Amino acid sequence: MKKIIEVQNVVTKFGKNLVHDGLNLHVNEGEIYGFLGPSGCGKSTLMREIIMLEKIKSGSIELLGHKIERIRSRAAQKIRMQWGVLFQSNALFTSLTVAENIALSLQEYTKLSAEEIKDIVAFKIDIVGLKQFDGTLYPSEISGGMKKKAALARALVMDPKILFLDEPTSGLDPISAREFDTLILKLRELLNLSVVMVSHDLTSIHNTLDRMAVIDNKTIVAEGTLEEVREMKSPFIERFFNEGLR
Ligand SMILES: Nc1ncnc2c1ncn2[C@@H]1O[C@H](COP(=O)(O)OP(=O)(O)OP(=O)(O)O)[C@@H](O)[C@H]1O
Ligand SMILES: [Mg+2]
Repeated sequence: MKKIIEVQNVVTKFGKNLVHDGLNLHVNEGEIYGFLGPSGCGKSTLMREIIMLEKIKSGSIELLGHKIERIRSRAAQKIRMQWGVLFQSNALFTSLTVAENIALSLQEYTKLSAEEIKDIVAFKIDIVGLKQFDGTLYPSEISGGMKKKAALARALVMDPKILFLDEPTSGLDPISAREFDTLILKLRELLNLSVVMVSHDLTSIHNTLDRMAVIDNKTIVAEGTLEEVREMKSPFIERFFNEGLR
C-alpha cells in the first residue's frame, strides 16, 4: 500500500505550550483516516502542519513524496493544488456567493474560461448535493449543513488527491450528519480520494473511518482500525467510546 502521508517524531510547541511530543503515523492512499482525541490535543494543528499552514518544531512530515520541512517554494505550490480542505469554521468568504466561493481557486490558479469555470462549479455544486439555486446565495443565507456542503464543494474544486476535513459533522443535526458520512464515502469512490478527517462524532467515526490515530497527552496513544483502537488501554479511549456508545 502506498503511503501518502507520513508523520515522524513531530514536535509542536507554541511558546511554552508543548502540544505534540513526538507524533508518528501514516496514511495510505485511498484511506479515510481520522484524527481523534480530546479538545485541545492538537488535531487541527496537526492537520494545519500537514497542509503547510503551520511549522513543526522538529521531526518530519512527508506528503505525497515530499518532505515538507525541506520543500522548495515551487514544489510547495504544486502540491498545494493536490489537496482540498474543509476547515472547522468552514471559512467561506461572506461577501461572495456560494458559487463564487467555489470558483475562486479556478479563477486564481487556472487559465480556464469563464464558461468552463461555470460548468465545473455547477458540477461540484451537484456532486455535494446542493441545488444550483443554492450557488446564487450568500453564506449568511444558507443553513449550517449547506455551508458544510458549500465548503466541501470548494475543497473539491481543483480535483484534489487528498481531502482534509476538520470536524465536518459538528453542529449538524443527526440526519444531516449521516448524510454527510454517506457523501464522503460516495466521493471517495467517485473521485478516488484519500480523506483525512478530524472527528468527535462516534457514529461518523464508525461509519466512515478505515483507520485512525488517537492523540492524548501530547502523543499518539493508539493507531489502527476502530477495533484495534478500542482494544488499547487508555483512559481517554475508554471514556470516549464507552460513554459515546451508551
Ligand atoms: N497559532 C497558535 N498559536 C498558539 N497556540 C496555538 C496556535 N494554534 C493552536 N494552538 C494551541 O495548540 C493546542 C491545540 O490546539 P488545536 O486547535 O490543534 O486543538 P484541537 O485538538 O483541534 O481541539 P478542538 O477539538 O477543540 O478543535 C491548544 O492548546 C491551542 O491553544
Ligand atoms: Mg480543532
